[in-house]
Amino acid sequence: MEKLVIKGGNRLKGEVKVSGAKNAALKLMAASILSNDEVVLKNIPKIKDVFLMVKVLEELGMGVNLDDSGKATIVPANPLKHEASYELVNQMRASIIVLGPLLAKVGRARVALPGGCKIGLRKIDFHLRGLEKLGAKINVEHGFIEAEADVLKGADVSFDFPSVGATENVLMAAVKAKGTTVIENAAREPEITDLVCFLKQMGAKIEGTGTSTLIIDGVDKLGASKEYSVVSDRIEAGTFMVAVALAGGEILIKNAPLDFMGIVLEKLTGAGIKIDETADGLHVSRDEEIKPLDVVTLPYPGFPTDMQAQIITLLSLAGGTSIVTENVFENRFMLIDELNRMGANIRVQGPHAIIKGVEKFFGASVRATDLRGGAALVLAGLAAKGITEVIDISHIDRGYSNLDTKFRALGANIFRTGERDSLKD
Ligand code: UD1
Repeated sequence: MEKLVIKGGNRLKGEVKVSGAKNAALKLMAASILSNDEVVLKNIPKIKDVFLMVKVLEELGMGVNLDDSGKATIVPANPLKHEASYELVNQMRASIIVLGPLLAKVGRARVALPGGCKIGLRKIDFHLRGLEKLGAKINVEHGFIEAEADVLKGADVSFDFPSVGATENVLMAAVKAKGTTVIENAAREPEITDLVCFLKQMGAKIEGTGTSTLIIDGVDKLGASKEYSVVSDRIEAGTFMVAVALAGGEILIKNAPLDFMGIVLEKLTGAGIKIDETADGLHVSRDEEIKPLDVVTLPYPGFPTDMQAQIITLLSLAGGTSIVTENVFENRFMLIDELNRMGANIRVQGPHAIIKGVEKFFGASVRATDLRGGAALVLAGLAAKGITEVIDISHIDRGYSNLDTKFRALGANIFRTGERDSLKD
């Protein structure tokens, strides 16, 4: 099993380019199911989840060519199959996102039920209820969701909670439904806005872009005539900001989607990180002590749950006590036991993590428990005294494109086992 080995203490220096957003790329790839024409997507990140989505589309009969520059050329299937297998869905929950597009394009879908997930229950009831409102008949049997609709009809769909995936599934079904669909309490994440813009480029009629009410007038046919470039990854940008704050030094971050990072920038500057916007990109450094903060995760435009692990890691070295409250997932504090093994002093009380700042982390062997938690352990390793080994790094590779290579280019002493036998002195 591969692991990342990090010798902490090197200050970071140089520039890093943020990749396309995982959570937008996967959805745009799924949306290409709806197109009657070839689709060209640029800025697709080279990550494990994208490679799995390529397999999901290929299993449906589509042709996908992903080149080294991150350009994906996606060719429609003829005929389009309608099944996403357990083998693939089990490896990537986000495969559930093909349900809406398949129903809209072929009138039926058979998608394996996603299995358990460590960070929380991650139910799909909102997805299914929303699609049923549009007229789909859905049965969940033998580990599969079987959905059918001769005709999807526009309807009013209101979510109890602004779920990202449910908003996207219903949106992608509604773009080809007969009549008007109104989605209330829609999630507003920038990656959904990216999906809306891409669907509109393919001919969809959608109003309310970026708001919690989406109004969709169904059209008969969608097709792509132009290329579309995926929005860059706000979570990756935030991860690099926290990294330099922990490790020290100064880096230039290129392609950060600043317009979508409001509260993240506010909290990070509140913690003492210096972020200067220039024509070249963002200069990020830290001159002062890390200040304690209170942070509450919420759906966008609130503080993203996908940055929670990184900010907990940062606040572990603050000069005081911080409280981070997780409101989106029930069980997203798994990295805390690992951070405590590295010397942090964090206590969990219900949805709150109470973080008493300590002076430093100490290198240790730790396990990546999930994608963002795994990345956060790498950040702790960069700042730690001694050597940190992060195991189970397949979680990190799901969502970060070459994280270790990017850190190494910034001067970090980090290697994948197998790449080199020993670290630089
Ligand atoms: C997406 C992102 C993930 C991010 C999350 C929240 C992708 C591939 N993943 O996940 O990185 O952390 O948004 O910003 O885009 N819920 C229900 N019933 C449902 C659907 C959701 O109860 O039918 C609950 C979930 O259990 C969870 C909350 O709603 O507690 C938010 O989930 P949701 O916004 O749907 O997250 P995902 O789309 O799975």
